[in-house]
Amino acid sequence: IKINYVDHKGTNFEVDATEGETLMSAATNNLVPGIDGDCGGSCACGTCHIIVDENWAHRLSDRNSEEISLLQMTPDFEDNSRLACQIVVTKELNGLVINIPEHQM
Ligand code: FES
Repeated sequence: IKINYVDHKGTNFEVDATEGETLMSAATNNLVPGIDGDCGGSCACGTCHIIVDENWAHRLSDRNSEEISLLQMTPDFEDNSRLACQIVVTKELNGLVINIPEHQM
């Protein structure tokens, strides 16, 4: 399942993700820069902040209140901001494009 992580300069890191893992683990396992996942995926650190491409945002599950309040503390918070550790990779996400916030680089 191909996931494209694009940094703020436009560099694309294409990762081969496995169904069932999170967008955070897919990034950290493949050393995508800017996604650290310091808390190990428990929705507590905010270092896995990503901004989902406009064309994909509506295909993902909704953010819960815990996710939103943590995201609001990050400097690049936007409408399509998500925590990568809260999104599970499925076949439907093949080709997904997500942006890495500039402040995390
Ligand atoms: Fe810490 Fe996602 S890994 S909030």
